[in-house]
Amino acid sequence: MEVLMSNWCTKTAQSLPEKYVFPPGKRPGKLDFPVCENVPVIDLKKAKSQQILNAFQEFGFFQVINHGIPVSLIDKTMRVFQEFFGMPPEYKSIFYSTDMKRKCRIYSSSMDYDKEEVHYWRDNFTHHCHPIEDHIGLWPENPTNYREVVRKYSIEGRKLLLRILDLIGEGLGLKPGYFDGGLSETQLLSINHHIPCPDPSLTVGMPEHRDPNLITMLHQCSVPGLQVFFQGQWMNIEPMENAFFVIPGMQLKAISNGKFSSPIHRVMTHSKRARTTIGTFLIPSMDILVKPAEDFCGNSPCYRGFTYKEFFNAYVENERDWELTLESFKVKE
Ligand code: OGA
Ligand code: NI
Repeated sequence: MEVLMSNWCTKTAQSLPEKYVFPPGKRPGKLDFPVCENVPVIDLKKAKSQQILNAFQEFGFFQVINHGIPVSLIDKTMRVFQEFFGMPPEYKSIFYSTDMKRKCRIYSSSMDYDKEEVHYWRDNFTHHCHPIEDHIGLWPENPTNYREVVRKYSIEGRKLLLRILDLIGEGLGLKPGYFDGGLSETQLLSINHHIPCPDPSLTVGMPEHRDPNLITMLHQCSVPGLQVFFQGQWMNIEPMENAFFVIPGMQLKAISNGKFSSPIHRVMTHSKRARTTIGTFLIPSMDILVKPAEDFCGNSPCYRGFTYKEFFNAYVENERDWELTLESFKVKE
């Protein structure tokens, strides 16, 4: 069977292939999950740093509105990605790779497609985007406006996340610009695409996970699917028009000395509609030291400093669990 699900014909997707059926403990098992009510909404036009800190501490995430990214640009970008997933298989195959080191790649399910017992119901297209000029030459040239549109979106996304990080820094009492430079050096766009799924109760679009990044910003289209594990249960995050969902990553947890945690989330599939989401990740460069900010925690850091490279390598030894990975850098008392 075709590896990329976006290449499947409608007939293939009419019943759920066995390879996508998760064992009972790992499948959603039902569809009627409660909606997460009162997700904090941060109006960036008038936001104070304390509001963001409260949102991270009380919920662990928020939606941001009045963020300055034009709706027309968001819509255009979404269309470009949807068109890209709809391109002929031969074109997409140029970008197909399961090698994490490839800086612009499309793949299906996870990096372990060939080894995993069950596949996740998703295709993903990921590429680097900072500094733009170093990477744009690797991006698709089709759709023909891909580079022009995605360039604008990447620049705006970076600006927005750095503004949010500045507010977070202010709230933690850090020097202005603390997150600029090495801590946010790497920027990825990660596009999830899920074709309609014959039985969303038996499979998942993305497994439960925490984001290893510094910070993540997600644009969901109008099709629901994102769930957070909140107050002891899975809850749906309803898509909010023209808003971005912001999630602190594990690096922010380390820098805030554990004040923020990175929420567990996953993706459900949809029986009728295809779903495409645009994730923007800021990530430390491989060699910069990530550590609890001294201006914030003084002489009592909970974690020792580490590089992102070390963090990434420790992941494999820690049951591929980002929370356990960070635990392994805990300072012993
Ligand atoms: C992610 C993620 C959620 C979604 O890319 O890390 O959690 O709805 N995405 O696509
Ligand atoms: Ni995530």
